[in-house]
Amino acid sequence: MDTGMSSESAPLVFRPMREEDIAGVMEIERQSFPFPWPESAYRHEIRYGTDSLFYVLELPPEPSLAPWWVRLLRRRGPTRPPVIGYVGMRLLPGEAHITTIAIHPQWRGRGLGKYILLKAIERAARYHARWITLEVRASNQVAQRLYTEVGFRFTGVQRGYYRDGEDAWLMRLGPLDRAEMERLEKIRQETEARIGIGDL
Ligand SMILES: CC(C)(COP(=O)(O)OP(=O)(O)OC[C@H]1O[C@@H](n2cnc3c(N)ncnc32)[C@H](O)[C@@H]1OP(=O)(O)O)[C@@H](O)C(=O)NCCC(=O)NCCS
Repeated sequence: MDTGMSSESAPLVFRPMREEDIAGVMEIERQSFPFPWPESAYRHEIRYGTDSLFYVLELPPEPSLAPWWVRLLRRRGPTRPPVIGYVGMRLLPGEAHITTIAIHPQWRGRGLGKYILLKAIERAARYHARWITLEVRASNQVAQRLYTEVGFRFTGVQRGYYRDGEDAWLMRLGPLDRAEMERLEKIRQETEARIGIGDL
């Protein structure tokens, strides 16, 4: 389990997805995608996905130790979402393909999407992925910006890829050599500093 922590905050938890997370994941999924995956897809990935990696991001367990903005949002929000984001990847030879990534709408715009993307890339590199690939809707400028900022490059278009006929942009990051991993590590540290969780 990976935890982000600074002297003044309890950790945000980035850890493998478990079956008990699925309800929280589905709450985010339904608010994030026009054609949400069914619960069974997540259950299948968790139970049988030997070639896939799925992670969730959880709030710090102890509110009084959480960063100030976590405490503020908790006070404002009606309920505390148990899971505030997730990311999934399929491992292929020399490559990890990002199949899903989302942050709870209430928690967007604070660097958490960039954080889980960078954590997922680190994990994929440990599994010897040299390239990270993904598809993103042609209209999804927020996600495209996120990927471009992290260093993904546009590699092509798949016409009519999505169920409603929208095109997919194909994007790729890599090769994940030493210099590239150091560059990504620096962005992760900057992102953690912005979120307020400091070094691991
Ligand atoms: C895409 C998503 C995961 C980003 O999560 P997030 O936590 O809001 O993103 P972050 O706060 O880490 O922002 C990372 C970058 O994304 C871009 N971004 C985030 N919110 C944005 C907005 N409202 N407008 C434009 N760009 C935005 C920026 O480039 C930002 O970097 P910056 O803050 O340094 O400028 C989130 O918007 C989401 O869950 N969307 C719905 C699901 C989805 O579209 N998934 C992608 C499928 S391919």
